[in-house]
Amino acid sequence: MFDTVTEWAFHIHLIMAISWIGGSVFMFVLGITLRDKKAQQEVYPHVGPIFGWFEVVALVALLSSGAILGMKYGLFSLLFHDNGTPISHALNMKLTLVIVLTVATVVHFVIAYRTNGKERTRKEQLLSRGSSMLIFFLNLFVMHYAIVLRNIL
Ligand code: HEM
Repeated sequence: MFDTVTEWAFHIHLIMAISWIGGSVFMFVLGITLRDKKAQQEVYPHVGPIFGWFEVVALVALLSSGAILGMKYGLFSLLFHDNGTPISHALNMKLTLVIVLTVATVVHFVIAYRTNGKERTRKEQLLSRGSSMLIFFLNLFVMHYAIVLRNIL
């Protein structure tokens, strides 16, 4: 029974990782290429909320399936306790990055939700752009440590 659950958890983890990272790469490309202000005002109010909820679902599914995989491999004893082994290092790097990524996502989501379709203040603009850049780059490093972790397991 536990094996079936963890098999499913791994499939869900992978599909959600693809969705989460794919979505953030696509929005990054959209942000760079869609420069016309009028087009932005037409596109973002519609796409923004759908994308936002899609990403929230993907992140919650990633964290919960990740927790199940952590249990499967008995990784919780290594949590925030880097004992010098490659596995504890990869796990702790990945989790630290995931925590920062989750905080950046909450910041980005709250600003996007509050200001959708409205003019943003300079501070909101900076926080929103900064958090989305941070999420994009952190994803690349989370992927790296996910691959390192998987190679060891
Ligand atoms: C943004 C969040 C996350 C992303 C994008 C992510 C991404 C990934 C990816 C792509 C893999 C597969 C690597 C490969 O096949 O080479 C993976 C595996 C794994 N992840 Fe995550 N992950 C996230 C969060 C978590 C969390 C919170 C945990 C909890 C400890 C976790 C635990 C694991 C484990 C244990 C594996 C290996 C599973 C196995 O080999 O059966 N992940 N992750």
